[in-house]
Amino acid sequence: MVLHAATAALDWVMDKSLVLGYTKIGPTVRRAWWPHDPVPGALVGRHVLVTGASGGLGLATARGLARLGAVVHITGRDASRLDDARSRLLEEQPLAEVTSHVADVSDLAATAEFARRFVVDVPRLHAVVHNAGVMPPTRTVTPEGHELALATHVLGPHVLTLGLRESLGGGGRVVLVTSGGAYAQRLEANDPDYTQGTYSGTAAYARTKRMQLVLAPLWARELAGDDITVASMHPGWADTPGVTESLPGFARVTGPLLRNAEQGADTAVWLTATGDPIGSGGFWHDRRRRSTHYAPVRVETPGEVERFWAFVCETTGVPTPRG
Ligand SMILES: NC(=O)c1ccc[n+]([C@@H]2O[C@H](COP(=O)([O-])OP(=O)(O)OC[C@H]3O[C@@H](n4cnc5c(N)ncnc54)[C@H](OP(=O)(O)O)[C@@H]3O)[C@@H](O)[C@H]2O)c1
Repeated sequence: MVLHAATAALDWVMDKSLVLGYTKIGPTVRRAWWPHDPVPGALVGRHVLVTGASGGLGLATARGLARLGAVVHITGRDASRLDDARSRLLEEQPLAEVTSHVADVSDLAATAEFARRFVVDVPRLHAVVHNAGVMPPTRTVTPEGHELALATHVLGPHVLTLGLRESLGGGGRVVLVTSGGAYAQRLEANDPDYTQGTYSGTAAYARTKRMQLVLAPLWARELAGDDITVASMHPGWADTPGVTESLPGFARVTGPLLRNAEQGADTAVWLTATGDPIGSGGFWHDRRRRSTHYAPVRVETPGEVERFWAFVCETTGVPTPRG
């Protein structure tokens, strides 16, 4: 959608100011010019998988997709939290079709197995929304030997996306929920597992969110031949358990201005359901494509991008060298 120059300038200023764009002011103002909502019933009969949907933005995304008629599959690590989430969705929308799956995306072998079973049960998948996220307070290594934020945000989603390739092929979508925090970090292609220097959870989080931004166009390239569309987005600053528990100081200061979860999830729902052309590999916020760098500095080189891609493919074993 082409915006009038003055509107585009205001939108840009809001984005660069962070506070005007990322808080609830963003969607409240931008609603006046952003693209129209997906048509009611846009997803009737279509299956969509949302990871990390037992609470926060994932649950809000599942709710928005169910409202559009999707058959929603939600994942998380804890069965009782997932049961609660499913019950809440069904209380609000008794006719919704919601299935929950206990699936830890940071466990690469289990994620590959989950995908293998899922494509048998759901041979035609409209979209996967990679929403699961963590901010580990201390450096945590998964039983498979990967730093937890890397495994949760990058390696697991890669295994899942490629594992679902067959059922997404022919028009499916992949939506990757990243963060504006990525702007604070450059691509760490030399030490993706964060083995050097003093570990910081917020830095690990932002580094892996930067990796997601780099991964989206790489997935778009890899999956173009299968007619699978990829988009990354960031939700702004939304009031979720993740924010109040991992960043209590930030949540206190920004509290009254934080978006609600539905506002944070809006662009993920829109990207999944819109009939508008969205291209593939772009980075979105509030239904508009955004720059992947706050300013044109510290941009990753093509060599770093390819080194990162080789690391992800080799570490996960997908696609196979012949793939
Ligand atoms: N809220 C914001 O302002 C904000 C801003 C920028 C980006 N984001 C991004 O938005 C996404 C959701 O954030 P949120 O604020 O809603 O976080 P949240 O409240 O902490 O929710 C995270 C969800 O992910 C699940 N999860 C965590 N690790 C998982 C794993 N290994 N496998 C499967 N599920 C897992 C959690 O469920 P269990 O613990 O039950 O597994 C939970 O349902 C994240 O990717 C985050 O980086 C959020």
